[in-house]
Amino acid sequence: MKKKFLNLGSQPIANSFLPNVSKKTIKKEFFYKLTVSFDDKDYLVSVTNPVNPKIQYTDKYAHRASESKTMRKAFKNIALKLNKRFKPKKIMEIGSNDGVFIKNFPQNNVIAIEPCKNLAKITAKKFKTYPNFWNQKLAHKIFKNKKKADLIFSANTISHIPNLKETFKAIEFSLSENGIFVIEDPSLSSVVINNSYDQFYDEHVYIFSALAISNIAKKNNLRLFDIENISTHGGSLRYYICKNNSKYIITKNLIKVIKYEKKKSLNKLSTFKNFSKRVEKSKKDLIKLLNKLKKQNKKIISYGATYKSTTLFNYCNIDKRYIDYVTDTTINKQGKFTPGKHIPIISPKKGFNESVDYAFLGAWNFKKEILKKEKKFIKRGGKFITHVPFIKILS
Ligand code: TYD
Repeated sequence: MKKKFLNLGSQPIANSFLPNVSKKTIKKEFFYKLTVSFDDKDYLVSVTNPVNPKIQYTDKYAHRASESKTMRKAFKNIALKLNKRFKPKKIMEIGSNDGVFIKNFPQNNVIAIEPCKNLAKITAKKFKTYPNFWNQKLAHKIFKNKKKADLIFSANTISHIPNLKETFKAIEFSLSENGIFVIEDPSLSSVVINNSYDQFYDEHVYIFSALAISNIAKKNNLRLFDIENISTHGGSLRYYICKNNSKYIITKNLIKVIKYEKKKSLNKLSTFKNFSKRVEKSKKDLIKLLNKLKKQNKKIISYGATYKSTTLFNYCNIDKRYIDYVTDTTINKQGKFTPGKHIPIISPKKGFNESVDYAFLGAWNFKKEILKKEKKFIKRGGKFITHVPFIKILS
């Protein structure tokens, strides 16, 4: 049974950056109630009432995976690794974004699935691309009476699809006998340890654990056989899933991760109730710090117009009173305004300058990359603020 444990209040769509802040635009802004639940039967943590995907994945989808150096490198590495270990001949990616993963494979071996038409257009120039949502109907269209997929890859997408049963059934249909389904998504243990409640937003319908994925796979004639901890998105898990009767055996690492998750009590509601209390404290502490800095006339900006920041700004009620603007390297975010709180987004070139005293790390998942890049800012006395794993000024 689903049990609610976290209330993040009224939230807009995390990626619905506003083109302007006219009355008309603001009036049209869509809000929903963001609460999070734990299912004590299959250990799934999910947004209680997911938003209709058709509102989310449109032809204006802003996120471009290949804009980040970290992500480009990560996708290249995993493509090489999967190739070496499994030697797949037919490869499909669900949620192929701008092709950052599939471009590492031979053109004729790849099928791309991407419902955001602006992104699908990019990969369609080179790869067979279906600009559709993943479901059984599409799986039948692609694979009925055809050679099935040896590798189905999906990074930061499966956790976005509300209907897991439909998704997994379609996967089961599409896999070859010894084909593998590899997914990457932010891990529940990282969210709990980092207190990164901003990982919950409309797109992140689920924050998976190995315990939960194992249960879902089982229900759909599949099984989890291996797992890896990866650093992307502030701590993710890469799950290796195969058909029930295929040749793969369960790895030591999977046994270790399952044991770890049990030790962290990711199968108990009390864990999430405690998490919820820490989230409330994080909000209070952040507001307290921002108020203190504002009293000292400090200029605070936010670094990275992340979707995660949408949850944080709206939950903590942080707007232009605290944050002058957000800087972001993504060209199609620049000149826009953050969802719900309407903070202007500008380029780092324009905004990350001498006048900034404090920068809130909206893109905390790139902390290492950012701190390395912004040595000059730190050297001249600029400071970063983070809420992960608790509110602190980085020195
Ligand atoms: P992302 O990691 O995709 O987080 P989310 O899924 O929550 O949106 O977003 C990171 C954002 O930060 C992206 O818009 C690019 C931006 N960014 C910068 O502006 N500067 C940087 O140096 C880095 C690493 C990212």
